[in-house]
Amino acid sequence: MVTREEMEKQEQYTEMIRSLPHKPRSYYVVTYGCQMNAHDSEKIAGMLDDMGMEAADVREEADFVIFNTCCVRENAERRALGNVTWLKEVRKNKPEMIIAVCGCMIQEPGMAEKILKQYRFVDLAFGTANLHKLPELLYETLNSREQCVRVEEADLIAEGLPVHRLRQDAAYLTIMYGCDNFCSYCIVPYVRGRERSRDVSVILHEAENLVQSGVKEIMLLGQNVNSYGKGLPGNPSFASLLKQLDGIGIPRIRFMTSHPKDLNDELIEVMAGGKHILPQFHLPVQSGNDEILKKMNRHYTREQYLNRVRKLREAIPDIGLSTDIIVSFPGETEEQFQDTMSLVREVRYDSAFTFIYSPRTGTKAAKMEGLIPDEVSTERIQRLIALQENLQQETLKRFIGMQEEVLVEGLSRRSKLAVSGKGRHAVSVTMDGTEADIGRILSCRITGVKNNTLMGERI
Ligand code: 5AD
Ligand code: SF4
Repeated sequence: MVTREEMEKQEQYTEMIRSLPHKPRSYYVVTYGCQMNAHDSEKIAGMLDDMGMEAADVREEADFVIFNTCCVRENAERRALGNVTWLKEVRKNKPEMIIAVCGCMIQEPGMAEKILKQYRFVDLAFGTANLHKLPELLYETLNSREQCVRVEEADLIAEGLPVHRLRQDAAYLTIMYGCDNFCSYCIVPYVRGRERSRDVSVILHEAENLVQSGVKEIMLLGQNVNSYGKGLPGNPSFASLLKQLDGIGIPRIRFMTSHPKDLNDELIEVMAGGKHILPQFHLPVQSGNDEILKKMNRHYTREQYLNRVRKLREAIPDIGLSTDIIVSFPGETEEQFQDTMSLVREVRYDSAFTFIYSPRTGTKAAKMEGLIPDEVSTERIQRLIALQENLQQETLKRFIGMQEEVLVEGLSRRSKLAVSGKGRHAVSVTMDGTEADIGRILSCRITGVKNNTLMGERI
């Protein structure tokens, strides 16, 4: 854990920035990637609020713009760097603007050097390990003309950072950081470091505070929530943590992401017996072929995965199931791809996030032979998406006639008299309602399926 002295030092920097006459007055955080990053951005915004800055509506008008980046696939990285470069042009009309880049991409080997050489206009860059040091790094940046670049190994947990939440009705709660799985294609273990879990008592305390502040839904976050507890006294399991959280009266609890190899019966039982744990599960399969799964270092077979799904469905009928799939892993043949297609047909997911394999320097897979040509990959992913969309339209019909509770996120894009949000099964629902319903949990009867969204009538 980051020491108390270190956190206090950062508070002092926060105070020092507050009283600087030339401090930036407004900020804008640009976020790429997963929920973990979205939550890190809430912490960045929280720290900037404490320094006396205000959130700007658009990035072009902000005095301080910070890009919180992702590097899980090459296109995420390219997009971030493209937008950073674009902002350099915008700054010509606003010379006082400070540009910062942080997050997973900066933590990649060689990236700090690249920023120092090719992105001289970036004022400040730091990796995931230095998030809590933003006050100190920004203070240095404001007081020098030098580019400030800081990367350290991600191996600690910083407790007590302020959070500027994006939503008042729903909140993220991180339970563990990092990943020890080293799936052969994935860069996350290299940029987010080794697995480390937060103390049970700290998590429970945070959850209680969130409930008291009116939060209706908590999303527990971790790269691999199922292996929560490693290294903590008494090795508490994720299932036991979930059970305790279920007991404190949060209306809705969800979590992500899970690794199929660690999804045990204890967790399924706790979910089935829980009062507030939502009947939904994100269970990335990545591939439906055993040989590819082995090359991916996933530690399960297709059959073992399907068994887990069966068990989940036995215990929690109608559970909402979603997944992640990678097509064109090195050497993937058409037959092996067909195994993924047949698995998708067999499982019938409520939604699937599909990706074309993207080589990431430093990972095992990046050294494997058999890179699949782009045309083949594009064609494969199109077939997979078409299949999933067709099946989804059918799969979602099982909800017709059922009652569903929806946490309303906003007005529907199509009508001012309709609202939309997520149901308990993680599927989007559009139903009758008005602006006044945003942030409420409403009951409805599902009447139909339209464009992969459920249609509901308010009860
Ligand atoms: N290429 C393509 N997809 C990837 N993912 C992770 N690494 C890669 C990669 N190198 C996908 C996986 C993971 C999701 C978050 O991103 O499907 O579950
Ligand atoms: Fe990456 Fe695998 Fe860890 Fe997920 S479990 S973050 S895919 S290494």
